[in-house]
Amino acid sequence: MYQKPNSRLINQTCIVTGASSGIGKEVAIAMGKDCANVIVNYLDDKETAEEIAHEITSMKYHGTAIAVQADVSKEDQVQAMFKTAKDKYGTVDILVANAGLQQDAAFHEMTLKQWQKVIDVNLTGQFLCAREAVREFLGRGMRPDVSHALGKIIHMSSVHQIIPWAKHANYAASKGAIVMLMESLAQEYGPQKIRVNSIAPGAIKTPINKEAWGTPEALKELNKLIPYNRIGQPSDIGSAAVWLATDESDYITGTTLFVDGGMTCYPGFTVNG
Ligand code: BGC
Repeated sequence: MYQKPNSRLINQTCIVTGASSGIGKEVAIAMGKDCANVIVNYLDDKETAEEIAHEITSMKYHGTAIAVQADVSKEDQVQAMFKTAKDKYGTVDILVANAGLQQDAAFHEMTLKQWQKVIDVNLTGQFLCAREAVREFLGRGMRPDVSHALGKIIHMSSVHQIIPWAKHANYAASKGAIVMLMESLAQEYGPQKIRVNSIAPGAIKTPINKEAWGTPEALKELNKLIPYNRIGQPSDIGSAAVWLATDESDYITGTTLFVDGGMTCYPGFTVNG
């Protein structure tokens, strides 16, 4: 049951990568609820992506949505996705570079393929999408009727941009690199009024980490890592992403917003150290 929407993103278009499940799906829906047009990017789950696009469009708020296939690690596919967005909606105002994956392995057993795949999608994918977004923002110029900023980029990072993660070295390395990508872009394009920020989710209930919450015992262990004592919901990230895309956060750039129930407060130290 949807509540009455805000209209903070009216007449703006948002690309959300990896939007056919988990965090990306809820970010796409939250953008739609705030009246944005949404590109629901997916890799291979066309049916679900189309359902999500239909769900957003049929909310009958101001924006509509379309599902667009692209592998974010492939330059030509990212460029084609931006072209489709521009053909349909005229321009792109917001990018949420969310698509990401894990391929976990003990470091001494990690294959080059596992390392490369995670870097290709989680890091190179965010580079390719952010670069296309910056090109589009610079090429079209300001739209003062819709936003104080020339454009907004939100990188989906993770608490593992600062929390080391045994048996996930490829994933943690990719997220650690996102910080410098994001901050460098914020520094480079601040003068042109492009805002670039990251969201660092903690443990959010999605398919990527089902092992960590799929049984009551696992969830109990997980909660020990979360001072706020509950697993995050994808909508917790959706509302943060929308806020970072609106002019309410106009003076925020080059920042990582941790949405983690306090996971980065290292609760292990409550009883030790
Ligand atoms: C990972 C999840 C993990 C969470 C907290 C995320 O970035 O994708 O698998 O549960 O960090 O550790």
